[in-house]
Amino acid sequence: MASIVAGIACSHVPAIGVAVDKGLTDTPYWSPLFKGYGPAREWLARLAPDVAIVVYNDHASAFSLSLIPTFLIGVAERFPIADEGFGPRPVPAVEGHPELAWHLAESLILDEFDMSIANEMPVDHGLTVPLSVTCGSPRAWPFKVIPICVNVVQYPPPTGLRCFKLGQAIRRAVDAYPGDLRVVIYGTGGMSHQLQGERAGLINRAFDTAFLDNMTQDPAALTRISHTEYMREAGSEGVEMVMWHVMRGALDRDAEEVYRHYHVPASNTAAGLMILKNRNTS
Ligand SMILES: [Fe+2]
Repeated sequence: MASIVAGIACSHVPAIGVAVDKGLTDTPYWSPLFKGYGPAREWLARLAPDVAIVVYNDHASAFSLSLIPTFLIGVAERFPIADEGFGPRPVPAVEGHPELAWHLAESLILDEFDMSIANEMPVDHGLTVPLSVTCGSPRAWPFKVIPICVNVVQYPPPTGLRCFKLGQAIRRAVDAYPGDLRVVIYGTGGMSHQLQGERAGLINRAFDTAFLDNMTQDPAALTRISHTEYMREAGSEGVEMVMWHVMRGALDRDAEEVYRHYHVPASNTAAGLMILKNRNTS
């Protein structure tokens, strides 16, 4: 039987990918951030999952304002790296797991989550940066990947509670999969950041810290944060944090914190990394 063994929350700041790709991770600006990634990489390498479900948002790479799926699952064998204007990132292509992905699509849709399905889709920094953060720079990614996209670009994005319920439905689907697979789930994006306007560069450490604390202490309270509150407290792009709830909903209620790393600034954002695991995960 397949099982979800851990959840990873991770910012997907594009400049972090640039720092990796240009060999800047040991520079004075970036090294404090990357030093904090080391223990997470070691922990994940020991866990050695078979598949990662990566919940992220596309940044007008695969889609545009002409097509805006609220929730989408990628079922391809392979996902090419998107060209976001400077050529594709020099990272391995992402290998999918079509069998589990189609099982998820069927289970989620029959469980009343109306997923769009992508047979072909390039993946951008929203997916590849969390892989770089947690896996380093391998010749091939160490596990298969199932991308799940959430719209957080065009209003209205889904609520945090809806995202949490999607995570619960993903959990039910994985539990029902007959294959023997160890699955991790990533929730990406955030933390507090605003990229434009008078409040550009906004960082709210108090909000971010409380959010991280409540991932274990009171995840239900986090699902009640409104879009307006995200924008007020965490900036206009802080609403990306609804995607963390998909990950959280897929874990046990009493999941425990394994690791966290919080660093400001990364580019002009607050970068967060957190690992949670179910208590029966060894
Ligand atoms: Fe983003």
